[in-house]
Amino acid sequence: MNQFKSIPGTFDILPEGYTSGGDAIAPVRVWQHVESVVREVMSAYGAREIRTPILEPTELIARGVGQLTDIVAKEMFAFQRGKTNYVLRPEVTAPVMRAYLQHHLEQVSAVQKLFYIGPCFRAERPQKGRYRQFHQFGFEIIGTSDSRSDAETIASAVDIYRKLGITDITLKLNSLGDEKSRPRYKEALVSYLTPLADQLSEVSKNRLVSNPMRILDTKNESEQELLKNAPILLDFIDEESLANFEEVKSHLDSIGITYVVDPFLVRGLDYYSRTSFEIESDALGAQAALAGGGRYDLLSTELGAKRVVPAVGFAAGMERLLMALEVADKQNISALRPDAFLVALGDEALDWVFKTAYELRASGLNIDYDLKGRSMKAQMREANRRGARFVVIVGGDELASGQAQVKDMDQSEQKVVPFANLARELKTR
Ligand code: HAM
Repeated sequence: MNQFKSIPGTFDILPEGYTSGGDAIAPVRVWQHVESVVREVMSAYGAREIRTPILEPTELIARGVGQLTDIVAKEMFAFQRGKTNYVLRPEVTAPVMRAYLQHHLEQVSAVQKLFYIGPCFRAERPQKGRYRQFHQFGFEIIGTSDSRSDAETIASAVDIYRKLGITDITLKLNSLGDEKSRPRYKEALVSYLTPLADQLSEVSKNRLVSNPMRILDTKNESEQELLKNAPILLDFIDEESLANFEEVKSHLDSIGITYVVDPFLVRGLDYYSRTSFEIESDALGAQAALAGGGRYDLLSTELGAKRVVPAVGFAAGMERLLMALEVADKQNISALRPDAFLVALGDEALDWVFKTAYELRASGLNIDYDLKGRSMKAQMREANRRGARFVVIVGGDELASGQAQVKDMDQSEQKVVPFANLARELKTR
């Protein structure tokens, strides 16, 4: 037995699926399938991929995400080497904005649509759906404050879930107003909650001083009860933000995307203003947030830009998406099965299988066979385990007649196919 194990909250992704501490870890092919759907949908929206480093300057995240957020205060994997402070990126929005500013991407085109897929790191307490190394995909539209861009980012996320067959989702929408309306709201919230402070949890008591709006996000039921009569953020936001919120909603209405307005939706990152949203899975329990995002017009100047670069985007957790796929029983993706598994009876047949696999692969088919020369029973078992669409069986008789036995695994039918017609036969799925 190997004495080393992966660090809690991180996991290996294997060719085969497995469970780790109660969590089902999907096989690599399912990850790849989801990634290819993400790429497809992103391309359909005109987005192009960006890849930024895993290591970023700690200061970028501290300034971008916000000193008082849980992510920066408690969850960063940060270290110093020489005089430089490094962090394993806990999210990708601040890195993408850094790259945008660093490379003057506004000179390439006025509106940049960028997407990413990759690992992120947060030192949270590991639990189902919450990991220390997890994977996000995300989409950022940088360079415009047009409310259609808010609607486009939201629509693209919804499209990805729909395309994968995850339909039981709820889109929650809110507006956080501008940087002037929020202090007014914070004040009102603090005056409402201060007399009730002894009924708040320790965490919320601390937040009342440090970051009162985060209390709105509480999962504690008695606190949620207290908040029922609390002042509502939407009543405090500025006229322009309110008009903008109406626009975003009407764009969503016009393309048939349903949402619920949730005045308690505040996000765990400080860079947002105006639109903020979350997509939740109705089928997942505790970690139901599949994706989150919003507008972050002031991030650019927070990072030192001389001018405001308006931007909006979302990021989604891959692991949560895979959990939702599993619940919806949609992980069995037929397009990813081997088209055929070739079964050889005897050495001579194995030589034929080796060559035929090569030729069939060259014609675009996904083919495998047993490289250990095992018994027919073991080969059939392997073909089954791999979920092969067809099994092609060849022994001495078949070699002599130039015809293979082809078993359609879905229809449980078997027929004889001349070698010359194999590729065509296997392509009729
Ligand atoms: P976030 O809400 O912190 O937003 O993360 C987005 C998604 O990442 C969450 O909804 C969740 O699915 C997933 N996630 C977060 N933490 C974990 C974890 N420890 N384990 C598993 N999954 C996790 C952001 O990161 C923003 N950058 C989103 C954004 C993009 N805003 C504008 N553009």
